[in-house]
Amino acid sequence: MDKTKFDSHSQSEKRSHFKTAVNLLDYIWTKDRMDLKIRVLIAFGFLLAAEIATVYSPYILKFLVDDLTVEGGVDVLVVVPVALIIAYGVARVLQQAFGELRDAIFAKVGQNAIRQVALKTFRHLHRLSLRFHMDRQTGGLSRVIERGTKGIDFLLRFMLFNIIPTVLKILFICGIMWVEYGMAMSLITAATLIGYIYFTLAVTEWRLKYRRKMNDKDSEANTKAIDSLLNFETVKYFGNEHHEAERFDKAIAGYEKAAVRSQTSLAYLNIGQGFIIATGMVLVLYISAEGVASGAMTVGDFVAAHAFLMLLVQPLNFLGFVYREIKQSLVDMEKMFELLDVGREIDDNPHAVPLPEGGGEIEFSAVNFGYEENRQILHDVSFKVKTGQKVAIVGPSGAGKSTISRILFRFYDVNSGKVTIDGQDIRDVTQQSLRAAIGIVPQDTVLFNDTISYNVGYGRPEASQQDIEEAARLASIDGFIEKLPEGYATMVGERGLKLSGGEKQRVAIARTILKSPRILLFDEATSALDSRTEREIQESLKEVSKNRTTLVIAHRLSTVVDADEIIVLDSGHIAEKGTHQELLEKQGQYAEMWARQQEVASYQEKLDAIT
Ligand SMILES: Nc1ncnc2c1ncn2[C@@H]1O[C@H](COP(=O)(O)OP(=O)(O)OP(=O)(O)O)[C@@H](O)[C@H]1O
Ligand SMILES: [Mg+2]
Repeated sequence: MDKTKFDSHSQSEKRSHFKTAVNLLDYIWTKDRMDLKIRVLIAFGFLLAAEIATVYSPYILKFLVDDLTVEGGVDVLVVVPVALIIAYGVARVLQQAFGELRDAIFAKVGQNAIRQVALKTFRHLHRLSLRFHMDRQTGGLSRVIERGTKGIDFLLRFMLFNIIPTVLKILFICGIMWVEYGMAMSLITAATLIGYIYFTLAVTEWRLKYRRKMNDKDSEANTKAIDSLLNFETVKYFGNEHHEAERFDKAIAGYEKAAVRSQTSLAYLNIGQGFIIATGMVLVLYISAEGVASGAMTVGDFVAAHAFLMLLVQPLNFLGFVYREIKQSLVDMEKMFELLDVGREIDDNPHAVPLPEGGGEIEFSAVNFGYEENRQILHDVSFKVKTGQKVAIVGPSGAGKSTISRILFRFYDVNSGKVTIDGQDIRDVTQQSLRAAIGIVPQDTVLFNDTISYNVGYGRPEASQQDIEEAARLASIDGFIEKLPEGYATMVGERGLKLSGGEKQRVAIARTILKSPRILLFDEATSALDSRTEREIQESLKEVSKNRTTLVIAHRLSTVVDADEIIVLDSGHIAEKGTHQELLEKQGQYAEMWARQQEVASYQEKLDAIT
């Protein structure tokens, strides 16, 4: 995607660069931060002062040289040259001091901008839909933010420290040359600079394509490396280390090639730049030497003209680098700002209200849904869970059971039909209040790489340690935790990798108990547990879900026999509905599943009896 975008329409690219820069301005000149605005103005004042001090020093040099080259030579240092020497020193000190003050004053503005943009992007990412995140790779995403914020830092720094001062310097010096040495000198200086700048930008532009390739390859290699490392277990299971290394090497080989091209092309740039500057310098020196010879100029003028040009050459040395980096920064920032432009697929409707108080009655009416257009997952699904009831959804793998839970959370909107909670269409309430009302123990629990205590407490961030331990007790994980050497402070590892499946599930149960929502949703919440632990938890879950509307998705039918209603879902259709007893009498799909599981269970029991 990036490639075609970069290679073609540079016109629209320029326009969007402009838009990006304007976007950034909003963060520099912030509406309600008077203090920051004042800082911007003061920093500008210092910038101007520093430039004036800089441009002044060749002048002092000129007077000094003229004083020292009076006919007959100087015998002793008289007052005037000494004063000039001191003035020269003062100018240099001021020039540096003003520069430093400018940076110090502006630092807060720049850092604040970076923080605001990063925070906004982070918030925005969490607001984006599940679908967006599923299509994206997290490694790539965090690089975009990292590069984007670095880009802002760079852009601000170089605008303030290099571009604006250089432009001011060019204007000042060309003006001075005109006034002091006449139009010819001024024009030569201007022409040299224009030639230099034009050449630098053109060559840098040409070199940029290698830089872009480098960046693309770098991103690619990074995403590959992260994905591969996240899947290290799978890699080991299949013994595919070599294969992974080869994939990675292919990506970094591309980087290598582009990087070498980029570095060799730098030589052209530097040689060309040197040539242009030398030509300008020779012309200026020749004209001033002629001026001195004809008596129109003093030796001091000759020295000063050279000094003025040198003042310009110095910052321009970095022009190629600065231009490239600024452009890159703009591209990086643009990518980050683009993220901010990604709309929320699921947005609160403008009249959304908080979900009103209620018992948590759920109703699905004629719901049709598919993740993708051409593949429908749920077909005309209707059911109701009355306040305080427990309803179970059972059915084969891939039937759409977890999909129902995702729709209830409004991670996706239904294609037709509607879902209501306490009579309120979930599309008309705020997502915040909707999600606060539902607690889920998901099928695959993923934990934060933090302590057990933190992960349980996540259900209600303001909960006390006591509440956390109580929840852990209800989820039958207190015994396990207390046996750990570090107890509740034990780190669980990335995504909770250091806990077993059953332990993770119980942490998830505990954190949902702590959340204490009006609706409970268990998606195979106890599937990873042995039957004894499962029975234990079932008891506490029964306790917790008393007076709460509960939706249970289960494979093991024995855990749902007490449900008020059991829904059998098959390929997205509701095949049967009824209580355990009713469904058994019906002799349908449920009865068949039940019989099969009973067989396994009795076998298991016999096995247990033997061992
Ligand atoms: N994000 C997605 N994009 C596209 N298709 C999806 C997505 N998530 C799930 N599906 C598909 O939707 C169907 C139903 O998935 P769902 O997770 O609801 O099944 P399930 O009944 O919970 O199965 P299981 O018992 O194995 O958990 C599956 O065929 C699955 O491939
Ligand atoms: Mg599922």
